[in-house]
Amino acid sequence: MLSVPVALGERSYSIHIGSGLVSRPELIVAQLQQPRVAVVTNPLVGKLYLDALSTVLEKAGVSVVPVMLPDGESHKTWATLNLVFDRLLEQRCERKTTLIALGGGVIGDITGFAAAVYLRGVPFIQVPTTLLAQVDSSVGGKTGINHPLGKNMIGAFYQPRLVLADTDTLRSLPERELAAGLAEVIKYGLIRDASFLTWLEDNIEQLLARDPDALAYAVRRSCEIKAQIVSEDERETDVRALLNLGHTFGHAIEAGLGFGTWLHGEAVAAGSVLAARMSQRMGLLQAGDVARAVDLFKRARLPTDAPELGATRYLELMGLDKKVEQGRLRLILLERIGKAFVTADFPQHALLDVLTNPSASVAL
Ligand SMILES: NC(=O)c1ccc[n+]([C@@H]2O[C@H](COP(=O)([O-])OP(=O)(O)OC[C@H]3O[C@@H](n4cnc5c(N)ncnc54)[C@H](O)[C@@H]3O)[C@@H](O)[C@H]2O)c1
Ligand SMILES: [Zn+2]
Repeated sequence: MLSVPVALGERSYSIHIGSGLVSRPELIVAQLQQPRVAVVTNPLVGKLYLDALSTVLEKAGVSVVPVMLPDGESHKTWATLNLVFDRLLEQRCERKTTLIALGGGVIGDITGFAAAVYLRGVPFIQVPTTLLAQVDSSVGGKTGINHPLGKNMIGAFYQPRLVLADTDTLRSLPERELAAGLAEVIKYGLIRDASFLTWLEDNIEQLLARDPDALAYAVRRSCEIKAQIVSEDERETDVRALLNLGHTFGHAIEAGLGFGTWLHGEAVAAGSVLAARMSQRMGLLQAGDVARAVDLFKRARLPTDAPELGATRYLELMGLDKKVEQGRLRLILLERIGKAFVTADFPQHALLDVLTNPSASVAL
């Protein structure tokens, strides 16, 4: 087992990464304030892992309240959040009852937000079961739900007490979901670590083949990078925004096509390519580096050509982004591989060019 510390003063915690962690109740028990937990999951993940987790916890003397939520991004809503509260209240869960999120990012985000506000805050633990959740959503304390007018618009910063990333759970993940997680992994290399990007270029096939060591290393390095950035800037006043490379474009793609048409990671891949092309147009990133990013996303079986939504529609959708400040759009761009920056100061024509020809494989 590997452990990555997240240094946030009194809110610090560990991310444990490795094989078989779901069957190691002592890791969870050490964090509990009472021998009672509520495990929030969905029918798909529940069928695969809830019994195993509940059995070991119960053997360790912990009583388990299962909370079953409908699966899918379309259920990351206020109504679903309320189902969690209904169940916790019916079962008289207390302020010392720990909530455990067992599932992907949707379950993690809803459970974290429920934990932030139930009885004004109860402890919570993340047991992420998708690659995306292990490398990204379970770490850093952003929690929340969607609003009909925008994704992740209602939420809270609320840190877990522990993250248990059991790499065995990735074996049951559909291929498309695995690839979507790899988009975020590649993102870390692009924004912060050129040598990790090279490692990914050398190991992408092993990752797609779910080699446990390769996966554990990719999860660890991703978590280290995210943990470092989050401890520098927990509430996204500056450097944390870099984690959103490709996301302003990506969210526009997700919303423009209708949520769920493209997976988040797929939109992030194509969105990161748009950010790379934009950086190239501004004379920052070399054409060869744009090609490296495109190749790696392609090898990871991710889309690299953004859909043609029309520049006007893109701009409209991007205007809803949370990174908009005083009406000004801010973008994450690449100075080079391994170095990203955030700016509101970019030539409008470069953005328009990129959005007008979103699938142009070379800079115009
Ligand atoms: N909080 C953050 O910082 C943050 C960061 C990135 C993304 N997110 C959020 O995360 C969500 C996306 O997360 P996701 O990609 O994990 O999607 P998801 O939670 O919808 O999971 C994808 C699918 O895989 C299934 N699944 C989960 N684990 C499985 C397993 N081990 N085997 C088989 N199937 C499994 C799920 O039930 C679901 O059907 C989005 O809502 C996004 O906004 C949050
Ligand atoms: Zn993301």
